Amino acid sequence: QKVTAFAPATVANVSCGFDILGFAIEDLGDKVSVALSDKPGVRVVKIEGDNGKLPYESEKNTCSVAVKAMVEDLGFEGGLEIELYKGLPLGSGMGSSAASAVAALVATNTLLGNPYEKKDLLPFGIESERIACGAGHADNISPSLLGGFVLIREYQPLDVIPLHVPRGLYCTLIHPHLELNTSDSRSVLRRNVTLQDATTQSGNIAGLVAGLFQEDMALISRSLNDVIAEPSRSILIPGYDEVKVGIVPAGALGCGISGSGPTLFVLSPTEEIAWEVSRLSQQVFDKLQLPIDLYVSAIN
Ligand code: HSE
Repeated sequence: QKVTAFAPATVANVSCGFDILGFAIEDLGDKVSVALSDKPGVRVVKIEGDNGKLPYESEKNTCSVAVKAMVEDLGFEGGLEIELYKGLPLGSGMGSSAASAVAALVATNTLLGNPYEKKDLLPFGIESERIACGAGHADNISPSLLGGFVLIREYQPLDVIPLHVPRGLYCTLIHPHLELNTSDSRSVLRRNVTLQDATTQSGNIAGLVAGLFQEDMALISRSLNDVIAEPSRSILIPGYDEVKVGIVPAGALGCGISGSGPTLFVLSPTEEIAWEVSRLSQQVFDKLQLPIDLYVSAIN
C-alpha cells in the first residue's frame, strides 16, 4: 500500500513578517510517496529531481526527519519507505525543504488512517526545518500544510492563524539561478534590533494583516516593507533593487525576498499586473545575464 501527497511552495516572511508570515503558491511543489514495509524503521528509498544533492540518511533528509518525529509521537513501530519527487529547486527561498516534509507527513498520515488532524502535523514539520536549516521556523511549513496566508502568532505554544486574502491578490515569483541556503542567509542577520526598527516593523505587520482583512490593496502596498532582514539579505541578490524600483509604475503592490532568498516575490492586485511584473523582471535579469524562472500564482 502506497500513498502519494503533494505540498506546495511557499513565500515566507512576506517582507515585514520575519518567521511569522507566509503564504502558499499554487501548483508548484514537491510530491512524496510513502509505503508500508515489513522492515521496521523509516527509510528514504528514492529521490528524484534533486541532481543527487539531497541526503538519503534518515537523520538528515527532511522527509524522514519529519516522519520519524511523527511515528515516534504516535508509537508506530512498523516500517515506512519514502520516495521523494522534487518539483522545487533547492536553496531557492521557495520553501523547498518544508514542501518535502509536509508532503511526507500528509502521505504518512493518510497511510496510517489519519491519526492526526492536519494542524497537529505542524510540530513534526518544524522539527525537520531545524535539521534542514538550523532553525525551527514555521513560516514555510504552516502555509505549505494549511494553504493560504498564515500568521504564526507564537511559537511556544504554537499558535497559527489563517488570514483572510482579498480576491485578486497575485504573486509573481522570480527565481534567479543561484543557491542560497537558509542557515547562511540567517547568519548574516543582525542579532539586535533597535527600538525604532521594532516599532516600524510592528506597524507594517499590523498594517499588512489589516490590509488583507479589509481588502485594502493600498494599505497592503504601504505595509510591504522590511527593516530587519531585507537590508542585510538583499545585497546577496543581484537585480533586487532594479526589480523593486521597476515594478511600482507597473501597478504592483510591492516586493520582497521570498523566505531567505534568492527568489523575489512581488504582490499584485490583478493577474494582468502579475504577468507584466514577470515581463519587466525578465528584462532586468536579461541585462544582468542571469537566468531566471518565473511563476505567477493566485493567493487563496
Ligand atoms: N523565516 C525564514 C528566514 C524563512 O527568513 O530565514 C526561510 O525560508
